[in-house]
Amino acid sequence: MRVAVSGAGGRLGRALVEALGDAPFTGPFGPIAWRRPDYDLDDPSAAARVVARDRPDVVVHAAAWADVDACALDPRLAMRRNAEAAGEMARACAGAGADLVLVSTNEVFPGDADPAIGYGPGDPTGPPNPYGASKLAGEEAARAAYAAAGGLGADVRHGPLAADGEPASLPAGRVTGPQLAIARTAWLFGVVGEDFPSRILVAALRARADGGELALVADETGTPSFVADVAEAIVELLGAGVFAGTHHLVNGGPVTRAAWGRETLELAGVHVPTRDVAQASFARASRPPRAAVLRPTPLPSGEPMRDHALAMADYSPRLRRWLASIEEAGR
Ligand SMILES: NC(=O)c1ccc[n+]([C@@H]2O[C@H](COP(=O)([O-])OP(=O)(O)OC[C@H]3O[C@@H](n4cnc5c(N)ncnc54)[C@H](OP(=O)(O)O)[C@@H]3O)[C@@H](O)[C@H]2O)c1
Repeated sequence: MRVAVSGAGGRLGRALVEALGDAPFTGPFGPIAWRRPDYDLDDPSAAARVVARDRPDVVVHAAAWADVDACALDPRLAMRRNAEAAGEMARACAGAGADLVLVSTNEVFPGDADPAIGYGPGDPTGPPNPYGASKLAGEEAARAAYAAAGGLGADVRHGPLAADGEPASLPAGRVTGPQLAIARTAWLFGVVGEDFPSRILVAALRARADGGELALVADETGTPSFVADVAEAIVELLGAGVFAGTHHLVNGGPVTRAAWGRETLELAGVHVPTRDVAQASFARASRPPRAAVLRPTPLPSGEPMRDHALAMADYSPRLRRWLASIEEAGR
């Protein structure tokens, strides 16, 4: 099966290329990696060009403008990169009979969920900021493209547990039309220097050097999700062969930013006084949702993605090595 990954140089894109490289169904050459300038979200002809050239069976569209604050400062460009480009990719794939996994976000939801319950895939959306609005518009453009092409966009349920408690069922017989999967995730971590745990450690070193306290946001709750686990979940969906519908691919264990920050400090062995603050105490262009917690959907294996704390424990040796290198460089 020819699998292409857009945004292959990004945080999730790199993890996807690695995980797909190990998957038996991608063959000896592994996935096709689309990076800039070959595939650029700003080029309206890029999707049709790379799909016609490489003839993938499936595209995992991980390219996006994921800078939430930059999107708030330029909502028009956010729509171009996250909505129009997603629609172009969906039309190119559906037109070629290829499947598409469109990576999306928890920020399509308003953020008023009870964190203990979270949002299911069918819950009403309502983006709190321009980034979320552009990603939701991308989802809608992709659904419209697959509906127009007669593709399978309706939910296929995997595993013994359907997310909303309905009985699980797989479609009878083979899937014939091209499939669209929307794979929403949240609070990605697992790339040192480019994630929340890294930013917290840098801020902690600064606070320690200044003899001050580290301010941690206590009124924002989410589901930290390890890029390698999200990539493996997408590989598992592709391997199952049927994956149409909306999936929530997040690690378990919703936490506040403050709790995640303390978890990071503990794992990295950094001791600094901390203070809980409200998110409003940081000036930001974008308004993060208070609790856009995704309720995880079951994977084909029936197993949920593991708790984020286990993934953090796996990640922590890399974080500690990175921290040691920046402390060394600062001496
Ligand atoms: N980060 C999170 O916490 C988070 C949370 C929820 C959902 N998501 C979603 O997960 C997916 C992957 O996110 P990520 O964190 O891996 O993002 P990322 O690291 O910023 O990667 C995005 C990729 O998009 C590519 N791209 C192509 N054209 C671009 C253009 N004109 N402007 C900007 N980027 C362009 C970039 O390619 P080059 O590398 O070649 O420049 C980059 O590799 C996205 O759909 C995002 O919305 C992310």
